[in-house]
Amino acid sequence: MNNFKNLRGTVDLLPEELIKWQNIEKLIVDQLFRASVKEIRTPIIEMTELFMRGIGEATDVVSKEMYTFLDRGERSCTLRPEGTASVVRALIQNGISSKPSQKLWYMGPMFRYERPQAGRQRQFHQLGVEFVGYESVRSDIEIITLAWDILEKLGIKELNLEINTLGDQTDRSNFKDAFLKWLEVNKDSLDIESQKRIDKNPLRILDTKNVQTKSILEDAPRLFDFLSEKSIERYLIIKEKLKLLKIPFIENFNLVRGLDYYTHTAFEITSGALGSQSTVCGGGRYDNLISQMGGTETPAIGFAIGLERLILLSGKDLEQSRETDIYIVNKGFHAETLAMDLSRKLRNYDLKTELDLSGGSFSKQFKKANKIKSKSIIVIGDDEASNQEFIIRLFNNKNSENQEQKIAIEDSIKLEEWINKNLLFKKTSEK
Ligand code: HAM
Repeated sequence: MNNFKNLRGTVDLLPEELIKWQNIEKLIVDQLFRASVKEIRTPIIEMTELFMRGIGEATDVVSKEMYTFLDRGERSCTLRPEGTASVVRALIQNGISSKPSQKLWYMGPMFRYERPQAGRQRQFHQLGVEFVGYESVRSDIEIITLAWDILEKLGIKELNLEINTLGDQTDRSNFKDAFLKWLEVNKDSLDIESQKRIDKNPLRILDTKNVQTKSILEDAPRLFDFLSEKSIERYLIIKEKLKLLKIPFIENFNLVRGLDYYTHTAFEITSGALGSQSTVCGGGRYDNLISQMGGTETPAIGFAIGLERLILLSGKDLEQSRETDIYIVNKGFHAETLAMDLSRKLRNYDLKTELDLSGGSFSKQFKKANKIKSKSIIVIGDDEASNQEFIIRLFNNKNSENQEQKIAIEDSIKLEEWINKNLLFKKTSEK
């Protein structure tokens, strides 16, 4: 027999681990709702061309990491390596000019054929936010603070915000000319990987992790010195506003990001608590992407947070699952049918209930209720079934006898009163 295993770089998320995922996702979605950001869902699979044009053919993501294949109709398809290109495609396709400014978020799996390690997978998950149709400096700040606040709300420690500006296309092309000249002279002193990048994607050399190359680059021309006055002013205002909002940041002139579409603001948030894959969030402005992809000229800015890295960073308190409110102990042919009926009714309330389906002895069922720390139990046996009633009481409570009550199966009002008094009422006062 075959022993099937998941593919390298993919993981199964089992129920116990998913509690943390669900708690984190809920916190994020609530926060985005409160900031009036709306959800968008795009397909996981797209035409390969979309990413080649959108992200850039020379980037590592497109040239080395995409899951690309021909479908049965001989069309080249790719599993999305990121979400921005897909969102842009969806907006253009659905008539971007009719809704010129939109704040959108998405969450879901992305695929990159990278070498797996802690915090780096081949199928991973991102939360992405895109503000499309926003040009003002305030939208840059709003995007950065949104990302920062989500991470802070989740209790992530040792956060560092790094910012840079990449200027506009003219600024960058002026810099590129000068940088290429410098590279020609200094080529042999660079590491092999950086040398390979000279022809394909020279800007990414700035991002190198190689210590020797880094020190040589200190004498290279700086992109900042090629920025127009307008681009500089934009950047200075961003720095000033971040200071006013008390968001700590450091400037990193070598931060160029791995995707080609960025203009002006580029930023990353790292955490010292992560290992080598320390970037939790990356983003920036992409004012030319939409027109490059065939849409009307539309400025935009966004970010994406890697959820696996968030999970690694967030604390134990997010591993708590909601307690069971009512455990239904039942035994006997008629009792079991009544219990099923009651269990369906209870799902009309904001309660977490569990119907025992084991058919085991009462003591075993009580033990199970005890084990999962259910707040209360309902008991239905043959006696209760023949009287068309059930017993409900708080579990593991010294005064439980006082709260124990027999309720007729049909008496929804009495049941509701008991729930309100002992469960829902308690819950609201706990808040
Ligand atoms: P990115 O920097 O390529 O940006 O990815 C964003 C985040 O996704 C990273 O900071 C990291 O947390 C996570 N991530 C990336 N690759 C992996 C991986 N192999 N395993 C686990 N986590 C990973 C983007 O994708 C842009 N679309 C962000 C953006 C949105 N820019 C503007 N709008």
